[in-house]
Amino acid sequence: MTDSWHYAIDADDVEEEDVMPAVVEGREIAIYRVEGAFYASVDRCTHGDAALSEGIVIDDVIECPLHQGRFCVRDGRALSPPVSEPIETFPTKVEDGKVYVQL
Ligand code: FES
Repeated sequence: MTDSWHYAIDADDVEEEDVMPAVVEGREIAIYRVEGAFYASVDRCTHGDAALSEGIVIDDVIECPLHQGRFCVRDGRALSPPVSEPIETFPTKVEDGKVYVQL
């Protein structure tokens, strides 16, 4: 495996229990901050054409803005209808106040 960490966003730009969009290597990514930890997923709901970065973070759950389907931001699993397919998630790390995502 190659080392594929890529800068995504400054840590200070993501508030606690919030989500922000980022473009990483041309991909639209959602960056979540939960209890001081950072998580990353694709910025697209598996149910329809909605950006998860426009949704609401509740604990470690992202609620889709379109039909309120919910996913766990830690592992991407679908938690409540109408979503059933998980979202792809990515490892993150923070160095010098910057959040990196492994794609
Ligand atoms: S588009 Fe996300 S729940 Fe429908």
